[in-house]
Parts: sequence; structure tokens; C-alpha cells
Amino acid sequence: MTVLDLAQRCLRLLDPETAHNATIWALRRGLAPRARGADDPRLAIRLWGRDFPNPLGMAAGFDKDAQAPGPLLGLGFGFVEVGTLTPRAQAGNARPRIFRLARDGAVINRLGFNNQGAEAARAALDRWRAGGGTGLVGINIGKNRDSPDAAGDYAAAASVLAPAADYLVINVSSPNTPGLRALQGRAELEGLIDGLRGTLDGLAASPPLLLKVAPDLGEAELADIAEVARKRRLDGLIATNTTIERPPDLVGRSLSEAGGLSGRPLFARSTEVLAQLHRLTEGRIPLIGVGGIASGADAYAKIRAGASLVQLYTALIYEGPGLVSRIKAELASLLSRDGFETLSAAVGVGRR
Ligand SMILES: Cc1cc2nc3c(=O)[nH]c(=O)nc-3n(C[C@H](O)[C@H](O)[C@H](O)COP(=O)(O)O)c2cc1C
Repeated sequence: MTVLDLAQRCLRLLDPETAHNATIWALRRGLAPRARGADDPRLAIRLWGRDFPNPLGMAAGFDKDAQAPGPLLGLGFGFVEVGTLTPRAQAGNARPRIFRLARDGAVINRLGFNNQGAEAARAALDRWRAGGGTGLVGINIGKNRDSPDAAGDYAAAASVLAPAADYLVINVSSPNTPGLRALQGRAELEGLIDGLRGTLDGLAASPPLLLKVAPDLGEAELADIAEVARKRRLDGLIATNTTIERPPDLVGRSLSEAGGLSGRPLFARSTEVLAQLHRLTEGRIPLIGVGGIASGADAYAKIRAGASLVQLYTALIYEGPGLVSRIKAELASLLSRDGFETLSAAVGVGRR
């Protein structure tokens, strides 16, 4: 057993949120391992004028306050999505609010956008860049729980954070802010995007704008989202956030806790939503696939279903940081097994 395995086991003895805070602390102090060597060139992909060295990203919610983008990229991720960030700092829901369902390879969380606010994250990112930090960072934004003006909140967060973002994500799919997911309706979305575009157009440079959706939407709602994405020229869609469904085969003791379920039980549904969006958008809008990825085969399935990039969170909790290099190696060998010279050649082939 390596020191790392031991540390991983110790973390799992702690309450999940304490373990998470300890992990961020360790990352910030350079105590995490660094992935060795450059990425296999077949894993590279160019999107939105940016060169992703590999398609595997750290999903939103892990580094909410942009405290450790550099160390996370150092684990081998091709990009990191920080946030969700709201205009003002807020505490989130009462603890405990993260629950492990270890035997299910899953987690339930009801954090409720605990974060230090957009300005603090912007300052952290500026400090990191000023210190020579390089690598791709997406920024995920949301509304404050007590704010009556959702569109105003997204615009406010965007105006602070857009200049520091390689891409910006409108998060309307977290289940833990009352009313948030209703913003996925057609009229609400159009209003939100128009407001945001107004803000972004006033900036010197505006990053690609993406929308992150829930796995609990029906076919008609997904069709509306695809149409809004096309008409309003969204640059990408992220499928999916956590689910409020509880599949009947869950065995973990915490299965009836309120909140969003992530990890292995989310894989099938989130991949189905991804494939539906790929079909509905005719493959014209780049998609990021997230939900239940724990292996190279899982990542490959999302890519074949239409994802140009993928992300994970929950599997990292159970598998530790070595998972990132493992997934990349497995993915490269799956691409070469199937005769793909590049990652882009495999995007969406499962649907055609
Ligand atoms: C503890 C926790 C916190 C999360 N916080 C956020 C968040 O703030 N914003 C967001 O868009 N998604 C958040 N997510 C969702 C993830 O980004 C991801 O969409 C989801 O967990 C599915 O991926 P996974 O199965 O690999 O975990 C969170 C997930 C977890 C487990």
C-alpha cells in the first residue's frame, strides 16, 4: 500500500465534507501527486479556440471557490470547472449535507451553493494567473438563494467572472436551490441568456457560454433546450447535473437523504440525456458529458454518445487521484483499438 492509498483510506473515515476540505487543503499545499509526462496527442481536442490537452475535466462543485485549479490540473485533468459561484457569498444548507453511498459508488449532496462569492473567486483566479498559472478553467455560475432576481444574479456573476473564464456555465440544474431548475423552461432560459449576452457583449472579450442541464428532464423539455441553444447560439451544453430520482436498486443507508444523487447510478440516465441532446442539436453544438464516469470505458461511452469533453467528480472520491491517469490511458487504448486517430473522430459515432 502506498502513502497515497493510506491517505485515501483515512479520508474515507472522515465525514465527507471534512474529507473534502482536507483534500482541498492538501491540494493547495502541494501535497497531491502530479501526473507524469505529457498527454497522448490523440487525446487532444480543440474547441472554442482553446486547446484541451485531454478531454477529462474536473466537474463543478469540487473546487467551488477556485482555490486549487493549478493542483487539480497537475493531477492530469485537461481542464477544471470551478464554482458554482453566486454574486454574493452564502453559507449553503445546514450540515451534514454530503452523504456517501459507498456500495452504490454514489453520493447525495444538498450543499446549496455554499461559496465565497464571485469577487473572491475572481481574486483567487487572478492571483493564480499572476503567479504563472496556466491551463483551462471553466467557471460555473448560479443565483443566490435569497435573491428574487435570477437574471440579475447571473448577469452580476458573469460580469465579475467572465474575464477570467475559458468558458462560462449557466447552472440552472442544481436541485438544492429552490426554484432554480424552473429556469430550464423555454421562456425563462431565453430571458436569462438574453440578459447574459447583454452583459457579455459589453466586455472586451467574452468567453464561450454553456448551459448545464438536469438529468430529470423529459423529451419535450430537452427539445425546448436544444432549440433555445440553437436559436440563442449557445456555445455548448453540459449533460448532466445530479438527479433527484432514486433508482430502486440503491443499497446505501443514506439513500433517502434529500439532495442530488451523483456517481455510478447516474451514468445511464446522464448518458441518455447526452445522446438525446446530440441528436436534437444534430451534433452542431459541443457537448460535455458528465455523470457516473469511473473508467476509460465510461468516458469513451459518453464520447461515442456525443460528448467532445467529459467530466467527473464522484468517482474521484472513491478511487483517488490515480483515477485521472488511468482513465486517460484506458481511453487512448480504446481509441486505438477502434482505429480512431483523433478523439474528435469518435465524438457521436455511437449515435450514427
Ligand atoms: C458534492 C458535490 C457538489 C456539487 N456541486 C456542484 C455545483 O456547485 N455546481 C454544479 O454545476 N454541479 C455540482 N455538482 C455536480 C457535478 O458537477 C456533476 O454534474 C455530477 O456530480 C455528476 O458527475 P459525477 O457522477 O461524476 O459526480 C456537485 C456534485 C457533488 C457530488
